Formats: sequence, structure tokens, C-alpha cells
Amino acid sequence: MDTDRFDAPPFAPSEYIVRLARTRWEKAGHFALRRAVFCHEQRVFAADDRDATDDVAIPIVAACCVAGLPEQVVGAVRIHESEPGLWQGSRLAVHADHRRLGRIGGELIRMAVCTAHGLGATRFLAQVQAQNVPFFRRLHWRSLDEITLHGLPHHVMEADLAHYLPHGCEQTWLLRPQRAARRRA
Ligand SMILES: CC(C)(COP(=O)(O)OP(=O)(O)OC[C@H]1O[C@@H](n2cnc3c(N)ncnc32)[C@H](O)[C@@H]1OP(=O)(O)O)[C@@H](O)C(=O)NCCC(=O)NCCS
Repeated sequence: MDTDRFDAPPFAPSEYIVRLARTRWEKAGHFALRRAVFCHEQRVFAADDRDATDDVAIPIVAACCVAGLPEQVVGAVRIHESEPGLWQGSRLAVHADHRRLGRIGGELIRMAVCTAHGLGATRFLAQVQAQNVPFFRRLHWRSLDEITLHGLPHHVMEADLAHYLPHGCEQTWLLRPQRAARRRA
């Protein structure tokens, strides 16, 4: 019996869509992913990470695609204007199986900041967990302050808007680089 076919690597999607969450399916996936990452994985929150900011925030999702259609929400972030011109991003999360694969986190940040810039942001801030500061620095953010939030070390960071020009798109696509596909296989 030929067993080679059973050794094939698991299916890994190669196409992702990053978009403002408009549909009920996208919003449900956005909140479910945040709950999985911030409540169950990181245990930053007990049962639900939602708060009053969700009443005014714009949710954004990344979804992996099968046959060109969104199949599962695997990334989330939200943005809101906290005072005129000052926008904030929060709750950035990528599903554990899809991290460091196709720059999903980076593309979520790009969609978040470019969208806010297009809506009139003059500054864009986020409270970033300390272990992610190098990741944000590489994406043209600078640290303004060190704080403790939810008992964990964070940096208040600001995006350099010159690197995040408004693109006016509600969605962008991302193709996973082949080297990431090989690494995963
Ligand atoms: C942080 C997070 C969103 C990054 O998402 P991701 O999809 O893995 O990031 P990307 O694939 O876009 O990463 C782009 C690059 O940054 C690197 N990178 C990712 N996370 C990093 C980190 N914490 N520190 C340093 N580099 C990092 C990746 O290796 C990749 O580099 P490469 O292209 O040379 O391999 C994801 O790890 C996550 O959801 N973590 C748990 C929740 C969390 O910490 N949220 C952020 C709260 S502030």
C-alpha cells in the first residue's frame, strides 16, 4: 500500500483578506478570536475582553480564504478616535496557527493605521505588550512611555503616519510568501 500520500503536510491557506468587519459573520469571528487569544491563551481577561470601546470602535478582521472566499477569521484589531484627531488601535490578535506565516499581523496594523489616517487621524497610538515592541518598531512605531496595564508591562507607542498613507480601501489581500509555506511544511 502506498503510504506516501498520508505524509503530505496539512493544508495551509495561501491567501488572506484583511477588511473592515461589516457582516455578522466577520464581527462574530472578530470577537471569538479576541476571546481565544486574550482570555484563553494569554489570560489577560477572565471570560470576555469586550469593553465600552467596542461601542465606538471599528472592528477589522483578517480571514484565510479557500477557493477565493473568506473561510475563517484568523486576525483581529480594532480602531477608535479617542479625541479629535487622536486615534488608537487595540486588541491586535492573530490565530496561533497563522502567526509568522504571511505578515497577517503587519497587514492588520497597516489596515488599522491607514484607515484611521484616511478618516482624519493626526496621531495614532497603541498600548503594546512589551514582548511585541521590536515587532512594532520594525513597522515604524516609536515608544513614548512604559506603563503597566492589566498587570503586564506595556509601551505606549505611536505610528509614524508618513509610512501609513490613506489608501481608501475597505479590504486588501495578502498572499503568503512561499518561504513561509516551506517553513510550515
Ligand atoms: C503579535 C502578533 C499579532 C503578530 O502577528 P503575526 O501575524 O505573527 O506577525 P507578522 O507575521 O506580520 O510578523 C511580521 C514579522 O515580525 C516578526 N514578529 C512577529 N511577532 C514578533 C514579536 N513579538 N517580536 C519580534 N518580531 C516579531 C515576524 O517574525 C515577522 O518577521 P519575518 O517576516 O522576518 O519572519 C501575534 O503574534 C499575536 O497575535 N500574538 C498574541 C496576541 C498579542 O500579543 N497581541 C498584541 C498585543 S500588543
